[in-house]
Amino acid sequence: MRKPIIAGNWKMYKTPKESLAFVSAFLPLVEGHDRDEILLFPTVTSLASVMEAVAGTNVRAGAQNMHWLNEGAYTGQTSPTMLLSIGCRHVLLGHSEQRMYFNETSERVNLKLKAAISHGMTPIVCVGELLAERENSQTEEVLRTQVRTALHNVSAAEAQRLVIAYEPVWAIGTGATATPEIAAEAHAMIRHELAHCCGSQIAQETRILYGGSVKPENISALMAQQQIDGALVGGASLVPATFAGIVRYR
Ligand code: 13P
Repeated sequence: MRKPIIAGNWKMYKTPKESLAFVSAFLPLVEGHDRDEILLFPTVTSLASVMEAVAGTNVRAGAQNMHWLNEGAYTGQTSPTMLLSIGCRHVLLGHSEQRMYFNETSERVNLKLKAAISHGMTPIVCVGELLAERENSQTEEVLRTQVRTALHNVSAAEAQRLVIAYEPVWAIGTGATATPEIAAEAHAMIRHELAHCCGSQIAQETRILYGGSVKPENISALMAQQQIDGALVGGASLVPATFAGIVRYR
């Protein structure tokens, strides 16, 4: 019922030329693959050319962030209508690196989420706890607050296309993947919170991706968990064969 999504977040890597070289090498490796949705999130300078390069294929591309307004004096920002103008309908919101280094807040994620919804885009809202929060048994509380704030005043009808990514901060770029059991437990907490915010049907239908040191070697065990509906992959999405290996997990 929940079609899995395997997404690659390229963060601040790859020039447009490197991005297009990736796409040329990657497309043949996943040609005809229909079991999972495949998404790439390049940097903003590469996004338009990647959008063109994947047009008509089974791969889609999205933005790593966006502002909630359509235009204005906001230096350094990209708007929903600008993304739509290049055919981009997917956007990551609230990534932990945005929260950690650029003071992103769940309140702003809420504004961005509502903008994405009103423009018919597919938002992927990232949540996750810090190591200290996990060690202090605050994981459930942190996830609850992040989900509730991001979904404030979002109705069930509006949450139809919502995707959540659970990315425990201690697992990002560290090689310390959450065990499938730990990830599944957190996904269940998030699903419980989704039910509180938007009702049980949305909770059942919303795809929750896991992110944090996903690799070809650990994807199968993660995907074997009924709670896990896909992956948001950082480092291992930068190399075509490696990312294709993750997409084609068994
Ligand atoms: P890594 O896969 O490099 O740990 O990054 C995860 C991530 O932040 C994806 O958004």
